[in-house]
Amino acid sequence: MTTRTLVRGGLVVTAADETRADVLIEDGRIAALAAHDTDTARGWSAGTVIDATGRYVLPGGVDAHTHMEMPFGGTYASDTFETGTRAAAWGGTTTIVDFAIQSRGQTLRQGLDAWFAKADGRCAVDYGFHMILSDVNEHSLAEMDLLVQEGVTSFKLFMAYPGVFYSDDGRILRAMQRAAGNGGLVMTHAENGIAIDVLVQQALAEGRTDPRAHGEVRRALLEAEATHRAIQLARVAGAPLYVVHVSAQEALAEIAAARDLGLPVHAETCPQYLFLSTDNLAEPDFEGAKYVCSTPLRPREHQEALWRGLRTDDLQVVSTDHCPFCFAGQKDLGRGDFSKIPNGMPGVENRMDLLHQGVVEGRITRRRWIDLACAAPARMFGLYPKKGTLAPGSDADLVVYDPHAEQVISAATHHMNVDYSAYEGRRVTGRVETVLSRGVPVIENGAYVGRAGHGGYLPRGTGQYAH
Ligand code: URP
Ligand code: ZN
Ligand code: ZN
Ligand code: ZN
Repeated sequence: MTTRTLVRGGLVVTAADETRADVLIEDGRIAALAAHDTDTARGWSAGTVIDATGRYVLPGGVDAHTHMEMPFGGTYASDTFETGTRAAAWGGTTTIVDFAIQSRGQTLRQGLDAWFAKADGRCAVDYGFHMILSDVNEHSLAEMDLLVQEGVTSFKLFMAYPGVFYSDDGRILRAMQRAAGNGGLVMTHAENGIAIDVLVQQALAEGRTDPRAHGEVRRALLEAEATHRAIQLARVAGAPLYVVHVSAQEALAEIAAARDLGLPVHAETCPQYLFLSTDNLAEPDFEGAKYVCSTPLRPREHQEALWRGLRTDDLQVVSTDHCPFCFAGQKDLGRGDFSKIPNGMPGVENRMDLLHQGVVEGRITRRRWIDLACAAPARMFGLYPKKGTLAPGSDADLVVYDPHAEQVISAATHHMNVDYSAYEGRRVTGRVETVLSRGVPVIENGAYVGRAGHGGYLPRGTGQYAH
């Protein structure tokens, strides 16, 4: 028996179009769209009818950068795959791509299998994996080919965190050469970690131990320098590149220059860099620790440059880098030494709403919002058009969004497993009302009706990397 759902009367917004249309869902996929109130649409019947009048109908969000349960800084990110994907759904995100980690001395297989085990049977929405390479050697390079074939098609390399995830330029070049041959995509955390560690030691020796110093030592110039270096290494390797969590306008300038040359260089930024700044790192009583992440928050003027990059397509994707640590007991590890504050911020639940403020404020169009949050990450990471759009044949991952609802972001009402919100008290316009994942309700009128284990693993294709 065919299960049908009809979503009626909303403004369907994709990266390509905005139309008042009815959406017919059959057995978890989009079967058809038709202009509202036409004979075609009136002829449809379904067991479930959702009235979306006055609402937007959006593709489910694709968050291509999360770290559920990530071991980091002597502790673990506080959201599990269960709590984190549930929170994602509340915020209108129906796909995450998380980072499996190869630790030093491990094979990629061992790292990936550990992440499969963590996620299996626990997720509320669908998930895929990137692979973090911490140990580039003959064996792990050969394993990259196998991973691409089985649907893990992107690999993060760190130019930061010496002694932990860091790879030197030779190792990064070798991974890029391998990716050039197997169709994979190398993602770089572009900060000069060797130089930053010198500045960290100098700051601590001078008694600059509070969270503000985190932003000071992780200099914008050292993000720009590493970004430039990553781009040149990718050119030498003949490989495409994706730079994660860009926060400095100087780094963005390097990306824009590469793209102006027609190079396959891509980049994301995150809501924290669009809305927060070094002012937050300076909050008294160690509250600044809530905003410690890397790359760090920058002075306010960088925000304007990043919004412009989102408009000009020098930045193609907005992801969260969701990596929550509780203020009590986790961020605390760095009292008296900012370098011991676990790096990362919560945000998987807030991304669609925060980016919508760019629409409300006239910074980006509605279609650009959906491109940045849904379509582009799906294209980039080999999930399109199954994810990221509403087209016949796509998964029925669909959000009914009330663009006029007002809400105040707060840890008291959010669903992420973390004891603070980085956006506490912020008023936002727009709210997720209903979320379907492959046609199945996960959020209904703001209430969770999903199930741990509904979310399935997504093997990914290689991405579409055109400039
Ligand atoms: O501070 C951050 N970004 N934590 C997560 C790990 C990473 O570098 O993305
Ligand atoms: Zn990173
Ligand atoms: Zn350009
Ligand atoms: Zn990250």
